[in-house]
Amino acid sequence: MTTPPPPSLSFLPSLEVRGLAYAYPDGHQALFGVDLTVERGERVALLGPNGAGKTTLVLHLNGILTAGAGTVAVAGLPVGPANLAEIRRRVGIVFQDPDDQLFMPTVREDVAFGPAAAGLRGAELDAVVRRALERVGMAAYADRPPHHLSFGQRRRVAVATVLAMEPEILVLDEPSSNLDPASRRELADVLRSLNVTVLMVTHDLPYAMELCPRSVILSEGVIAADAPTGELLADEELMRRHRLELPFGFDPTARPTRNPGGH
Ligand SMILES: Nc1ncnc2c1ncn2[C@@H]1O[C@H](COP(=O)(O)OP(=O)(O)OP(=O)(O)O)[C@@H](O)[C@H]1O
Ligand SMILES: [Mg+2]
Repeated sequence: MTTPPPPSLSFLPSLEVRGLAYAYPDGHQALFGVDLTVERGERVALLGPNGAGKTTLVLHLNGILTAGAGTVAVAGLPVGPANLAEIRRRVGIVFQDPDDQLFMPTVREDVAFGPAAAGLRGAELDAVVRRALERVGMAAYADRPPHHLSFGQRRRVAVATVLAMEPEILVLDEPSSNLDPASRRELADVLRSLNVTVLMVTHDLPYAMELCPRSVILSEGVIAADAPTGELLADEELMRRHRLELPFGFDPTARPTRNPGGH
């Protein structure tokens, strides 16, 4: 599972969503024909107001929800019942609430869970777990129960559980929410250091600016804009129309400083 994808597939987009529409069983339609392509190695922010359909879209990317109409493909492999195991290996979703994905007695077992299910054992499994925890700065916590960790630490472990699978695409739903400023910055450093395709749902527009060269706005179940993040955030009329507001004093046209204030 640490084998790189066959070279013949590497030109395919990491994610290709075509005409995706979905109505919840109660009849509420959340997606109305979403088209989105994310090329391998891109980092894309998925922005949009509450209720826009962002989480609904994310839940389609590994087949938790199944398209009412349209298609999703991950590195060319269609998301569907026949491929779910492989799709779930390729698409690493970090949910907004880490408690939705940490359920084992120790951090180590949580991170080992996916790779073990995929057949890794012994020293090879140990090495994968150690490396994933090192990548998020949590190696020292391997033997702790996840529920004894702080929220920010659990978020990092949740990222490690997904990285251990070497996903084609890392999908994060609100990764910076409920993090203190230092944890928020440390997670940004982790994400920036990864050589993986990223789709990041966020209301934290400076975070999008810092991490994602490209942003898309999902609004009322369709992609309403797709542009370089700086351009998109600087378009006041577009931002207003989609209920997006920059924090006070944040200037998207200013040159990015990685560590404002020298911290
Ligand atoms: N289980 C459900 N049953 C019925 N409708 C739902 C369900 N889950 C979400 N919805 C509706 O679908 C729409 C999209 O919801 P979704 O959770 O995808 O929005 P979101 O963009 O992730 O919002 P937020 O920024 O608040 O997380 C909303 O109108 C919501 O009320
Ligand atoms: Mg959501």
